[in-house]
Amino acid sequence: MIEAPPLLSVRGLRTEFLTPRGVVRAADGVDFEINEGEVLGLVGESGCGKSVTALSIMYLIPSPPGRIASGEIWFKGVNLLAGVKREVLVRRGLWGRPKIVRNERLLRQHRARMSKVRGREMSMIFQEPMASLNPVLSIGYQIAEVLIYQRRKEICDRLLGGHELVSDDLDLFRQAVTNPDPAERERFLAEFCLRIAVPVSRVTAIVEGAGLSLEERVERLRHMVARGRIRIRWFLELVRELDDLESEVTSRDWRLVSGVGTTEDRRRQLAARARYRSRQLAFRALMALPIVRRALMRPIEEEARRRVLDLLKTVRIPEATKVYRAYPHELSGGMQQRAMIAMALACDPVMMIADEPTTSLDVTTQAQILRLIQDLRGRTKSAILYITHDLAVIAELCDRVAVMYAGKIVEDASVKDLFAEPLHPYTQGLLESIVSLDRQVSIGVPLPTIAGTVPDLARPPTGCRFHPRCKYAFDRCKAEEPRLLVQGQGRRVACFLYEEGGSRAAGATSRE
Ligand SMILES: Nc1ncnc2c1ncn2[C@@H]1O[C@H](COP(=O)(O)OP(=O)(O)OP(=O)(O)O)[C@@H](O)[C@H]1O
Ligand code: SF4
Ligand SMILES: [Mg+2]
Repeated sequence: MIEAPPLLSVRGLRTEFLTPRGVVRAADGVDFEINEGEVLGLVGESGCGKSVTALSIMYLIPSPPGRIASGEIWFKGVNLLAGVKREVLVRRGLWGRPKIVRNERLLRQHRARMSKVRGREMSMIFQEPMASLNPVLSIGYQIAEVLIYQRRKEICDRLLGGHELVSDDLDLFRQAVTNPDPAERERFLAEFCLRIAVPVSRVTAIVEGAGLSLEERVERLRHMVARGRIRIRWFLELVRELDDLESEVTSRDWRLVSGVGTTEDRRRQLAARARYRSRQLAFRALMALPIVRRALMRPIEEEARRRVLDLLKTVRIPEATKVYRAYPHELSGGMQQRAMIAMALACDPVMMIADEPTTSLDVTTQAQILRLIQDLRGRTKSAILYITHDLAVIAELCDRVAVMYAGKIVEDASVKDLFAEPLHPYTQGLLESIVSLDRQVSIGVPLPTIAGTVPDLARPPTGCRFHPRCKYAFDRCKAEEPRLLVQGQGRRVACFLYEEGGSRAAGATSRE
């Protein structure tokens, strides 16, 4: 049987920052893979380069001071870092000081290509929700924007497909008609109208429809919903075509820059681009007139709004209609993080990166968010890269785990194997610290850690970067750098104890 290639494959990623202390190599030859639908934990102490690795995958490294110096990130058959080496260079400036020189044209092209991957295929949940939510826009508006920008094709498909009222809609409608409490009826009506995206005034007459049975009212409702959407069919088709053409241009572009494109790709790309330009002119002409724009875009915006309400419910936000209109600062930390997760889910990505999404929350909320992510794991098919420094979280959530130390992956194994038998001395140290945390947490002793600290990445130690803190270090460790080598089924470790002739391996793992 031929094994499917991994969804994402990071190879030799090097990301550095030019600081007054010198060049900080925050990711220094990072290698790992994520398979489709898999949850990979990335674990390591603070300052090991976990966030930098995630931001490099998303192409969000701030430059200056940072740059991705080299590496490849293969994702769905294309290299997301194609051409990156020529974009930002380090040159000698005045008095021999290094300075960053940017090639703006290449950067712009790469950003444009990447903006189609981010959001559509990959999304990220950050540690601090407020840092990525816009404080002056309502939560619902922000998520709807993402949908309209990234998922307009699916929205048009739904509208063109003469979208039927689903059972959730009908339940709300029934409540709006039959609930004995008038205030409740009003509330159900408001929520229903928001969901099906029509003004309350248009539905009131149907709800009140004297002498009509409930089923007759539902029939009228269906009629009204369908009629409203047919009028702008030609426009929805234009938007859908624009989106198709844009995807075609971008995906061929990715193949060509990644060096896997053919002359056929080039030919088709040129044809798609020419057509795209002409359709876009038509689209822009329509959007230039505010009245036309409002009339044409309204059904799309309303469909997006309805999907946002569904998403808010998916992430278990109570009173979704209220939260839709709320501004980020009006929500608690837990609710903000749920909104962030809804935004990350909005585009149904094949991969999500969660960078310590629970760290800024209190313990109870942390547990709830973790449970939510665990639950979503079962429902969405997306792969997740879950970054944390908490191995206990990894044990609950992940299939596989990569351990990072000082800018490098030092061990990579299934969660089961790693917990049963940690190989790298650093992993062993991390595991010991959670065991002692369990023992000591009740008496308020500070969190025990591995002796020593993560080295300054501007001046990392020679040889194995862990050697100053490693109780097994021997001479070779100070002089040579261990490579990440396969060690048994599906696991890799970078430590001389396990290399050819590393006879100390047995002693190291069965110690104590
Ligand atoms: N914008 C920046 N400018 C300069 N140095 C940076 C920048 N961002 C990250 N670094 C450096 O890169 C190194 C790795 O940082 P990173 O944020 O990836 O650590 P981390 O593993 O995510 O830690 P934590 O668990 O605390 O989030 C650190 O030494 C940090 O100083
Ligand atoms: S290579 Fe040497 S210093 Fe590094 S972890 Fe292994 S034993 Fe320790
Ligand atoms: Mg971080």
